[in-house]
Amino acid sequence: MEIENKSGVKTPEVKILKDGPIILKGFFRFRTSSGEETEKEHEILLCGCGKSGNKPYCDETHKKNVIKS
Ligand code: FES
Repeated sequence: MEIENKSGVKTPEVKILKDGPIILKGFFRFRTSSGEETEKEHEILLCGCGKSGNKPYCDETHKKNVIKS
């Protein structure tokens, strides 16, 4: 669910999944190493389990570590 603040700016959403990724959803500004900037709405999955081979991003390795009983 998107929420707009009093300025009409959409509030970003952060969702932390148990034993999984931290999901950031909202409007982000991306800056390249040469300083070029773009802004776009995006969803970013950061590793919350510590086992990703592509940190800081989730590479879905957490799915392999599920212990089933
Ligand atoms: S949360 Fe760590 S690999 Fe997905």
